[in-house]
Amino acid sequence: MAATVRRQQLSATVPLLLWAITVVTTFALTAGWQQGETTALHQQPSHDHVCYRTVQNPYVYFGSKTTYGAVAGNDLQTPADCRPMQVWMVSRHGTRYPSQEMIENLKKLHDFKTMITTESMLCPEDIATIRNWKFNLTSSFHYMLHRQGIEELKSLALRLKRLLPQIFNSTFDKNKYKFLTSHKKRAQDSATAFYQTLFNQNPDKDLPIVQTSDDRFYLYKCKQIGDADDEKNDNKIQEVKKFEDGPHMRSVVSRVSMVMGLKQNLSYENVSLMWESCKYDKAWFVQTRPAWCSVFTQADLEILEYAEDLKYYYSNGYGNPMGEIMGCPIVKDLMDNFRNLSMSKTGPQGVFYFGHTPNILSVVTRLGIGKDSTRLLSTNFEQMKNRKWRTSYIDPFASNIIAVLYKCKDTYKAMILLNEHAVPMGRDQCRLCPWKSIEDQFNPITSSNLSCNLNICKNSASFTSMSLVLVIVIITYTSNILVK
Ligand SMILES: *[C@@H]1O[C@H](CO)[C@@H](O)[C@H](O)[C@H]1NC(C)=O
Ligand SMILES: *[C@@H]1O[C@H](CO)[C@@H](O)[C@H](O)[C@H]1NC(C)=O
Ligand SMILES: *[C@@H]1O[C@H](CO)[C@@H](O)[C@H](O)[C@H]1NC(C)=O
Ligand SMILES: *[C@@H]1O[C@H](CO)[C@@H](O)[C@H](O)[C@H]1NC(C)=O
Ligand SMILES: *[C@@H]1O[C@H](CO)[C@@H](O)[C@H](O)[C@H]1NC(C)=O
Ligand SMILES: *[C@@H]1O[C@H](CO)[C@@H](O)[C@H](O)[C@H]1NC(C)=O
Repeated sequence: MAATVRRQQLSATVPLLLWAITVVTTFALTAGWQQGETTALHQQPSHDHVCYRTVQNPYVYFGSKTTYGAVAGNDLQTPADCRPMQVWMVSRHGTRYPSQEMIENLKKLHDFKTMITTESMLCPEDIATIRNWKFNLTSSFHYMLHRQGIEELKSLALRLKRLLPQIFNSTFDKNKYKFLTSHKKRAQDSATAFYQTLFNQNPDKDLPIVQTSDDRFYLYKCKQIGDADDEKNDNKIQEVKKFEDGPHMRSVVSRVSMVMGLKQNLSYENVSLMWESCKYDKAWFVQTRPAWCSVFTQADLEILEYAEDLKYYYSNGYGNPMGEIMGCPIVKDLMDNFRNLSMSKTGPQGVFYFGHTPNILSVVTRLGIGKDSTRLLSTNFEQMKNRKWRTSYIDPFASNIIAVLYKCKDTYKAMILLNEHAVPMGRDQCRLCPWKSIEDQFNPITSSNLSCNLNICKNSASFTSMSLVLVIVIITYTSNILVK
């Protein structure tokens, strides 16, 4: 009986439902048709391209050219009952100018300013900004530190001084404060800006420059890895190339071309130049809305960002077995410093290294930060949307790893920060951890004599694939001992 009633109700509902669907569909089609007509009437393509001038919170995650302030944290502090005994830091140089080659290439964008047609989807304000875009750098700016980069290092030094007053309780003394910089000018200038702010004086002589035999910080002997900070196109990584030639990137190129109102697709190289200009202008003038950013949608910027993440993943990150090997000497230096201070109470109060993207990534990969359980591939962009390996967060301009050793009552504790975000460490994911547990976690890696140096790259002639296999086996083995 009840079943019959239900069946009757159902048979009454079906025609009603069909009718409703018909009405809604017809309405939607009519509305769409009407809209199409209106568009044709006003010679305006129907578009959803937002006006960059007025959009709220534009996307600012630009890989290794992200501005520091967009991603930095503020977790550095001294816990109650603790006293900071030593701070150890590796910093990338601040915001810089492009390479000489890139400066020449960016000049080509002048040709595109007038190519925007009346079919463009850009709002008039964005078009005007592109038409007024100027670029007047000469090649003498090649890789120089930008004024914004100096500010980044100065403000980092001010924060350290304010948050760790016990560390900076004395004038400069080379036994208390160790500085080391790469031989490149942008890193030296970053170190100098940092030094000046800490000690309110100029260094009396040039800050120490890393020796080419120093495996902690001189990484150029491992060619591909050491050079990843430079804007060179040779030796493109396969996975990056595939992604650049793939459907996602083709959709970016075609969207940008359409947004500019072009009949033909631009080349990827030219679209890539627009992105470079957008990123640099945003890093140099943080508060502005750069001209060339407006041709991209957020979806485009996420795709371009992934190409950059792939590049660093395979050059200096977990995608390259050498990536983890490279970080051993520098992480060993951190461990030795903290161990010496906690055991024999000897050592400096501050250790400061100034270098480049490969230096930061060598520490990051050796410490196991930003490691995904799935490999980044040219084919799994969608699946990796929530990946941990994001260059924008790991390695913006002026990126840094800061480790602090605290004395808390009778025990030593340590905190490791990436861009001033405390990194959860070890099995219990502590942010302020007993020093002993950090030591136990990394000891198996750093105490291995075989792999804690870059001899594998130094003797690349005698380097056989057999020895790489051996090292990888050892690394994999030690990594598995560590519970992440
Ligand atoms: C380049 O242009 C900027 C702003 O457009 C201006 O501030 C700067 O002085 C110019 N530099 C040179 C070298 O002409
Ligand atoms: C500065 O602080 C360090 C570390 O807390 C301490 O060992 C040292 O004695 C202090 N030096 C001075 C001059 O106060
Ligand atoms: C532009 O590229 C897209 C994606 O590859 C393609 O579908 C489209 O046909 C191209 N347009 C022209 C005009 O070649
Ligand atoms: C765009 O880039 C290609 C190289 O990929 C170059 O040959 C071409 O001249 C560029 N287009 C314009 C209009 O500059
Ligand atoms: C740690 O102490 C040992 C023994 O005094 C010394 O040889 C070594 O250089 C120290 N390491 C660091 C990184 O300070
Ligand atoms: C590493 O080398 C040191 C001295 O060179 C030696 O004392 C130590 O036993 C070696 N450790 C291993 C694990 O081989």
